[in-house]
Amino acid sequence: MAVGVFDSGLGGLTVLDACQKRLPDVPFVYFGDNAHAPYGVRDADDIYNLTTAAVERLWAAGCDLVILACNTASAAALRRMQESWIPRDKRVLGVFVPLIEALTERQWGDNSPPREVSVKHVALFATPATVRSRAFQRELAFRAIGVDVEAQACGGVVDAIEEGDMILAEALVRSHVEALQRKMPTPDAAILGCTHYPIMQEAFQDALGADVKVFSQANLVAESLADYLTRRPEMLGSGTETIYLTTGDPNKVSNRATQFLRRKVQFVKA
Ligand code: DGL
Repeated sequence: MAVGVFDSGLGGLTVLDACQKRLPDVPFVYFGDNAHAPYGVRDADDIYNLTTAAVERLWAAGCDLVILACNTASAAALRRMQESWIPRDKRVLGVFVPLIEALTERQWGDNSPPREVSVKHVALFATPATVRSRAFQRELAFRAIGVDVEAQACGGVVDAIEEGDMILAEALVRSHVEALQRKMPTPDAAILGCTHYPIMQEAFQDALGADVKVFSQANLVAESLADYLTRRPEMLGSGTETIYLTTGDPNKVSNRATQFLRRKVQFVKA
């Protein structure tokens, strides 16, 4: 009855952790493609090929339902996967929609026409590939009108986190927030549109100031997964064990993951 969680590297652990807390009886198989991170500087074909290979590995581990806990893969590859690649008995869900539903004050699956919402000026922090895809603006336009979005491609932040260089990651967050503020001086909300960024949430909040509401995905995705599984319990796959898979060096990845989650996590080679 396992559920698969995929990310290019360590960022999806923020989503996994929230899902494990929300659904303590469900085994999860995590796949971090650390050998190929970051995805955010790759082109769409490359992201599609890497993501589909990882999802196939999760299916083989008994996960019929896979969460792409990676905005870059959700933005650059998910639609193409859903159009022609995913078999009928499997599901792959992205992380964008729960976040945008929260931002636009909607319940799950509310497909009513777009309307005015309370946020007017939204700062989006994401990887270069996610920003380039404009997937966030497209999903938002289905649900809200009159929202001004300013996107900041946060080059370097994912690499620094993957390398465990938190001082560099923090300095980069500050400079990306300043760059955003030059384009949009007073956003009323900010979206952390990359699952690595909640690891730096304090640095984002501090640089943005206490008046800016910062939205991050982990709890929103966990809640929407719990809701999905009550409606579609048959999507729990045959896997029975929680496993952490990586394409990178299992010891190095385990150490970083243990540091981020503040509990022992042991990765094995994917
Ligand atoms: N954590 C991922 C995301 O949400 C990917 C970052 C990357 O590999 O560049 O976008």
